[in-house]
Formats: sequence, C-alpha cells, structure tokens
Amino acid sequence: MLSLSKGLLALSVLVRGALAVPASDASSALFPLSGLNLAAKSARKLYLGTATNSEQWNDTTYFNILKNNAEFGQVTPANVMKWFATEPEEGVFTFQDGDIIADFTKKTGKLLRGHNCVWHNQLPDWLETGTFSAPELAFIVSRHCFNLVNHYQGHVWDVINEAFNDDGTFRSDIFFDTLNTTYIPLALYAARAADPKAKLYINDFNIEGIGAKSDALKSLIKELKSQNVPIDGVGLQSHFEVGGVPPTLQQNMEEFVALGLEVAITELDIRFTALPPTPAGLAQQKADYETVVAACNAVPKCVGVTLWDFTDKYSWIPGTFPGQGDACPWTDEFVKRPAYEGIIEGFKAHH
Ligand code: G3I
Repeated sequence: MLSLSKGLLALSVLVRGALAVPASDASSALFPLSGLNLAAKSARKLYLGTATNSEQWNDTTYFNILKNNAEFGQVTPANVMKWFATEPEEGVFTFQDGDIIADFTKKTGKLLRGHNCVWHNQLPDWLETGTFSAPELAFIVSRHCFNLVNHYQGHVWDVINEAFNDDGTFRSDIFFDTLNTTYIPLALYAARAADPKAKLYINDFNIEGIGAKSDALKSLIKELKSQNVPIDGVGLQSHFEVGGVPPTLQQNMEEFVALGLEVAITELDIRFTALPPTPAGLAQQKADYETVVAACNAVPKCVGVTLWDFTDKYSWIPGTFPGQGDACPWTDEFVKRPAYEGIIEGFKAHH
C-alpha cells in the first residue's frame, strides 16, 4: 500500500505533468498550503470570513486577498444590506448594491451572512423621522424583514442587531418605543416565512462575556424558545480592546449553546486604545486573537469567525474612536501582523 506521502508525491507529479508548469507554480496555484479559512476548515469550522464593502474592491491588493478562498470562506456586507440601503423609501426595495456582494460570494463559493434586518442605526430618513402607529410599524418591520430575507435565499441573517443596552435593559429606539419587545418575534417570524432554510440570529456587542447584557439576552432567548419563535443562533460581535477579551467567552458561548442555539463570532477586531503599538502590545494582540478563535474552536456549535474587515485600511475604528486602531490582522499596507498567526494558532488549539 502506498504511504500518504508517496501518494501525495505521485499526485503532485501527475498534476504538474498535466499542467506542464514548474513544481513551485503548480503547487502554489492549486494547493494553497496556508490561510485563515483553511485553518478554520481544518478545525472543522464552516468558515473564517470578513466584512467588506464593494467600494473597496478596485483596490486590487485588497481584492486579491479577499477573493482568496484559502483566506476567507465567508463574507458579511458591512453596510449595503442595512435598512437605509435596502428600503430607502417607504415600501421601495433596492437590492442592487447588496446583489453585488451576493453575486461575488456565489461566484467565489463563499458563504454570505445577511446583515441586518432590524437595527436602530443607519435607518432611512423616512423611518427615522416618521411617526407610525404600532400596527403601522409592525407591518413595516415584517415587510422589511420578509422582503430582505426573501430576496437573499439560503443564508444566515442577523435579524435583530444590538437590541440591548449594556445594563441588560432593552434599547430605546423607534422599534422598542413603538412596539415594546414584540418587534423581535415579528421580525423573526417574517424572516422564517421568507426563507425556511435561513439561519436566524440575534447579534450584539458586549455580550461576549457573562454579565448583565448576556444574561438579558439569555432570558430573551428562553422566552422566544418557550413560545416557539424561530431563533437559531447568537452572534457575538467581539469588538475588543487589546488585553480585554472576556475570560468567560467560552463558558458564555457554551451557555448560549445549552439553550439550543448555535453561535458565531461575527465582527471580530481587537484594537489598540493608544497608538502606535509596542512589540509587547502586538504580542498581546496576537494572544487575544488566538484566545477568541480557540474559544470558538472549543465549542463545537460555534460555527465560524468573521473579521470586521481584515485590514486597518478599511476598518471602522479610527472613524469612531479617533487615535485608536491597528485592530486588524493586516496593516493598512497589507502587511500581516502577529495577530494573523494568532488566528491560525487558535484554530490549531486542542480542546
Ligand atoms: O455613505 C456615506 C458617504 O456618502 C459619505 O460621504 C461618508 C462621509 O462620512 O459617509 C458614508 O457613510 C458611512 C457609512 O459607514 C458607509 O460607508 C458613515 O459615515 C459611517 O458612519 C458608516 O459606518 C458604518 C457603521 O457600521 C455605522 O454605525 C461602518 O462602515 C460599519 O462597518 C459599521 O458596522 C457596524 C455593524 O453594522 C454593527 N456592529 C458594529 C459595527 C461597527 O460599528
């Protein structure tokens, strides 16, 4: 019987022969040996992915890394599937920009995460400034979620985004203020009706560790489950500061899973609060990325990890937290930070 290495050697000779190209070219073209998504797949996760905006795609260095399936097996549109972009006028749905990303994922064989159906932010003016009765807004929420999820069939959706305050109370926004918590089951039912195969998530930040906010979300999940409202997963955004990964991350994910859900790390970045980073800081950031990925790795129902973009060049952080940043595995000049290797190590971690 052929040993594995002899078998691989025979295979590579065969492939090189068939293509008549030098060994190094053939192997790198056909068998990328490393990459973040490959590491995720080796750990039997569904993907390692990234957020993106298509305006960034004419940056060829960016696009070449993005499209490489060895690096990224999943994509989340950072903006174009949000309410302002998909229903800019009441009852008028525009999917052109979202379709650009959906078509890209289809062509490249990547998974797509829909982001998002209901969120207090980036709403169109007509919704932000309008006055609606509870029945009117209930209809508007249902119609929006249904049309969005119906248009993009077969994906995972952040149906509810950032519904809580950090103290575990519900966020005051147009939805809660008009409909109390009923907008949550309404949105989930509409999404399920639109696509029975879609995975429906509630996504939030500061729910990564055990605390008031994650407790409140667990209570909501129990309530939804007890009433048979469709809910499949919890998305842990994971916008962390270097040195600030909650020690209870894995246990917290296990507690969500114990409620009958899957979980995902949906928007990972780990920023420096002061720049530039020191070598010790970069080592800590690497360790932090590894900790987050290893926690997901240790929880079988943690399906995958998404970066909230992979290069500082397009990170949201400097715009929101001036003076902070360097949060991504690639610098703004597309040089890999130690954090990149931290992700790979995290997927290799034994559980
Ligand atoms: O489209 C306008 C453009 O016309 C204008 O010239 C420009 C000038 O500032 O602004 C553009 O809008 C920006 C928009 O992104 C689209 O690029 C907004 O200013 C900017 O605030 C907005 O930021 C987005 C942010 O959500 C809004 O809160 C980020 O790109 C996006 O990455 C970020 O993503 C969120 C997730 O959806 C939810 N979780 C947190 C995460 C980070 O904030």
